[in-house]
Amino acid sequence: MTKDSDECGGVLDSLRIEIAAPSIFSQIPLVRATAFTPWRDPNDCWFPVDEEDGTQHYLARVGALAVGVASVYSEDAGALAPYRLRRLAVLPSHRGMGIGSRLVTACLVDRTPMWASVREHLIGFYEALGAQRIPGNPYMMSSGPHVNMLFL
Ligand SMILES: CC(C)(COP(=O)(O)OP(=O)(O)OC[C@H]1O[C@@H](n2cnc3c(N)ncnc32)[C@H](O)[C@@H]1OP(=O)(O)O)[C@@H](O)C(=O)NCCC(=O)NCCS
Repeated sequence: MTKDSDECGGVLDSLRIEIAAPSIFSQIPLVRATAFTPWRDPNDCWFPVDEEDGTQHYLARVGALAVGVASVYSEDAGALAPYRLRRLAVLPSHRGMGIGSRLVTACLVDRTPMWASVREHLIGFYEALGAQRIPGNPYMMSSGPHVNMLFL
């Protein structure tokens, strides 16, 4: 359940979502590591594809603090869509405020059609943002069952 604005304690007033310039790429791995794998060295959460032409990182910041990120890669799925959304991550301290939804919405402004391999328990989260499930059985990844979804 998304928190109301009082519960967010003014966080949303100072929230900014921007396409990250290379000069601030260094803030991204820590957000990913904290959201996905807090036991992992943040340096292991940055990949060569993150710096390829055509990759865009959408960074959510509250003041100077990076609180969320969504990355979009030029990676089609059998010509299904030219862009792939990956590694959507919001710090645990900032979840339930609508930041994840805002990040996906920002990606959709100029990156559609876009597909994503998503955690099965998040199908409803992505459907609420307009994604449709691509027919096919859930498949297992190291983090659990996933399905493919498409934003048109
Ligand atoms: C998934 C994630 C990005 C959501 O970010 P968030 O900022 O908390 O999401 P929002 O506040 O925009 O949530 C919007 C809606 O989705 C729902 N939702 C959010 N996370 C959910 C979850 N894990 N399971 C089910 N529903 C969820 C919220 O309850 C809310 O519903 P409502 O509008 O009916 O109240 C965040 O939980 C996260 O970083 N998780 C760990 C990394 C991850 O799993 N990434 C996605 C990989 S596919």
